[in-house]
Amino acid sequence: MRRIGVVMNGVTGRMGYRQHLVRSVLAINEQGGLALSDGTRVRLDPILVGRSEAKLAEIAARHGLTDYTTDLDAALERAEIYFDAQVTQARVKSVLKAIEAGKHIYAEKPTAESVEEAVALAEAAAARGVKNGVVQDKLFLPGLLKLKRLIDGGFFGRILSVRGEFGYWVFEGDWQEAQRPSWNYRAEDGGGIILDMFPHWHYVLENLFGRVQTVYAKAVTHIPARVDEQGVTYDATADDAAYGIFELEGGIVAQINSSWAVRVNRDELVEFQVDGTHGSAVAGLRNCRIQHRAGTPKPVWNPDLPVTARFRDDWQEVPDNAEFDNGFKIQWELFLRHVLEDAPFPYDFAAGARGVQLAELGLRSSAEGRRIEVAGL
Ligand SMILES: NC(=O)c1ccc[n+]([C@@H]2O[C@H](COP(=O)([O-])OP(=O)(O)OC[C@H]3O[C@@H](n4cnc5c(N)ncnc54)[C@H](O)[C@@H]3O)[C@@H](O)[C@H]2O)c1
Repeated sequence: MRRIGVVMNGVTGRMGYRQHLVRSVLAINEQGGLALSDGTRVRLDPILVGRSEAKLAEIAARHGLTDYTTDLDAALERAEIYFDAQVTQARVKSVLKAIEAGKHIYAEKPTAESVEEAVALAEAAAARGVKNGVVQDKLFLPGLLKLKRLIDGGFFGRILSVRGEFGYWVFEGDWQEAQRPSWNYRAEDGGGIILDMFPHWHYVLENLFGRVQTVYAKAVTHIPARVDEQGVTYDATADDAAYGIFELEGGIVAQINSSWAVRVNRDELVEFQVDGTHGSAVAGLRNCRIQHRAGTPKPVWNPDLPVTARFRDDWQEVPDNAEFDNGFKIQWELFLRHVLEDAPFPYDFAAGARGVQLAELGLRSSAEGRRIEVAGL
């Protein structure tokens, strides 16, 4: 049994605590560690880092952990891996420090707020020779794994288009508490739905369908004022909805709506409809439905008659055919194998920078009101 120290910065946050500490790192230990290909097992020793000693102590106690500190430099001395799930704005400084200390780095997306900084991180990691990775959790969700299976099996024929619909109503905070942190709604604090979601859309599109060649986006702030965690009203300076069109290699057109100001009338909080010459699919986080060309009904446009067809009944559920683990945990295991036995890991800081680039170009497209080419980095 090997042990490896992992500094976890930002574990008091939503993602850092639930998905990364509890559902990934502690879950790997609970299953007896990670089994490597040479038969040895590795357990993780998390070192919790944050700004509030009291909050860290409380989390540590809850999970029977003992190692926590507010001193990042000291923590880095006793770890091989640095993980960052802080607010986006705090990421670059801490990650650079960990790179300088020669640690392998795994980080939440977006890796930085600007392409310049995201590329600088990738370059610094390469120059120091440390392994690096960015969270691309959506790729490992059951719904998208099923979609990938359909693509790999040739189900679609020629893929024509992708329609993504993401979002839900985030309460303004006045008469019901907001269910997301307030920094998300302030541009000056690293907020905004484009910076948050376009990095996700980038790796989904790039990994499943092809390189993103152009972007046109319209960013909007639908709700101009919100109420924060302290009950204080603030100006929402960041975009809370983005309507985007992406042209992909192979002529595929992807259109994705992202919004925190939409009420859900879907089966899941995100859904992608993919239409191909031979069949179509609608994939969510967990489920995926398909309609083959042979099972496609022939609707005829006639507004004089009531609709009697139940179009949703003409779709078929894709079976699981596998056990699906937590997506964040799957990617942690891949990253650990990358660090410990040099297994391939394409989700590196260069991929992270391409995601930040799409966000930056999306914001520019909206500001300038035009379609923008996505140049290779
Ligand atoms: N992969 C995903 O699906 C996903 C989902 C949501 C958020 N995220 C990303 O995860 C990161 C954290 O988001 P969250 O929703 O957990 O936010 P959060 O506000 O819940 O947590 C942020 C963490 O950063 C710390 N922090 C806050 N301000 C700080 C500062 N000024 N300096 C240093 N640390 C500070 C907080 O103490 C907390 O630990 C963001 O970069 C976000 O883009 C990823």
